[in-house]
Amino acid sequence: MKAIIQRGYGAPERVLQLDDTPRPSPGDGDVLIRVRATSVNTPDSATVAGVPYVLRAQAGLRRPKQAVRGSDVAGTVEAVGRDVTDLRPGDEVFGSLWGSANSSKTGTFAEFTVVPASQLVKKPAGLSFEEAAASVMTGLTSLLAMRDAGRVRPGTRVLVNGASGGVGTMAVQIAKSLGAEVTGVCSARNAELVRSLGADHVIDYAEQDFTKGEARYDVILDNVLNHPPKAVARLLTPQGVFIPNSLGISGGLLAGLPRMARAALMGKGSTDVKFITLAVDHENLNELVRLLETGEVKAVIEQTYPLDDTAGAITRVLGHHARGKIAITV
Ligand SMILES: NC(=O)c1ccc[n+]([C@@H]2O[C@H](COP(=O)([O-])OP(=O)(O)OC[C@H]3O[C@@H](n4cnc5c(N)ncnc54)[C@H](OP(=O)(O)O)[C@@H]3O)[C@@H](O)[C@H]2O)c1
Repeated sequence: MKAIIQRGYGAPERVLQLDDTPRPSPGDGDVLIRVRATSVNTPDSATVAGVPYVLRAQAGLRRPKQAVRGSDVAGTVEAVGRDVTDLRPGDEVFGSLWGSANSSKTGTFAEFTVVPASQLVKKPAGLSFEEAAASVMTGLTSLLAMRDAGRVRPGTRVLVNGASGGVGTMAVQIAKSLGAEVTGVCSARNAELVRSLGADHVIDYAEQDFTKGEARYDVILDNVLNHPPKAVARLLTPQGVFIPNSLGISGGLLAGLPRMARAALMGKGSTDVKFITLAVDHENLNELVRLLETGEVKAVIEQTYPLDDTAGAITRVLGHHARGKIAITV
């Protein structure tokens, strides 16, 4: 099969190539999917660039041990393992291989991929493959941030920093669906988009430093970490929750990791700090399906690239200014 193979770290057009690689085979609990669409998430782009450099210690020092990136997927079931009873060839499905044993074998930037059946659900008919594939990691991250970490309820005041990105566009919509009063921080270029997703207030970061404002928030989801965590947490109400959620936009050896570490230290004191650990399972995927089917949430896709221009798709995400998601059609 054809797949995008990563041969080193650096500029996407230099290190990524469309090439032949063996088709993966499903284990007992797995599903072999003919990939129709996938999407780029920041873990994919960070691993292509190899930045923050420290991630190479885990991914592989000179090149990633696993050569095919990608975790979000939508496609058609090609074959199922012998323990899979709820899916059959021809079914249209979507989900993610994030966190599964299969994520160490082959990713989704390929014609075929293997995902545990426990991390897939049937794709709603009204949703395109691209919309489905663009919803998974960012949708589930936002669901866990707003519903679980933030315990957002009607009237909860939520601030989303990076409201126009992949995670932010989902988080604004999910917070609104839970009844929150939402403030989104983004560039002026994207203010109208963020308002159209339901934000009650929009702060243009070039005009106003939100950390200097007088408003207070019950939940702050920070997808950018372009301010010291202490300055952000100052805006919390007494019971407020700070959710730092960023590898940072600065690059370099550690990128946003020192600020994530400082936020974790703050969490040992009086500040309520919660981190999101992505869990892809039927329960969360079914809730995402419900939100997508009711129209409470929609995937915002800036652009869709063909598989053979995955390098272009990754380059766009590395710029940190994509409006919502970048999808890839296979
Ligand atoms: N915990 C998890 O499971 C999980 C899963 C996925 C992602 N993440 C994390 O979530 C973070 C956000 O990811 P993302 O996909 O939404 O995209 P992203 O590219 O990291 O962030 C895009 C957002 O950052 C804003 N931004 C860019 N430059 C800025 C600047 N100089 N000052 C202020 N804001 C700026 C953009 O605003 P404009 O475009 O309007 O300028 C946009 O709203 C990532 O760092 C990633 O590590 C975590």
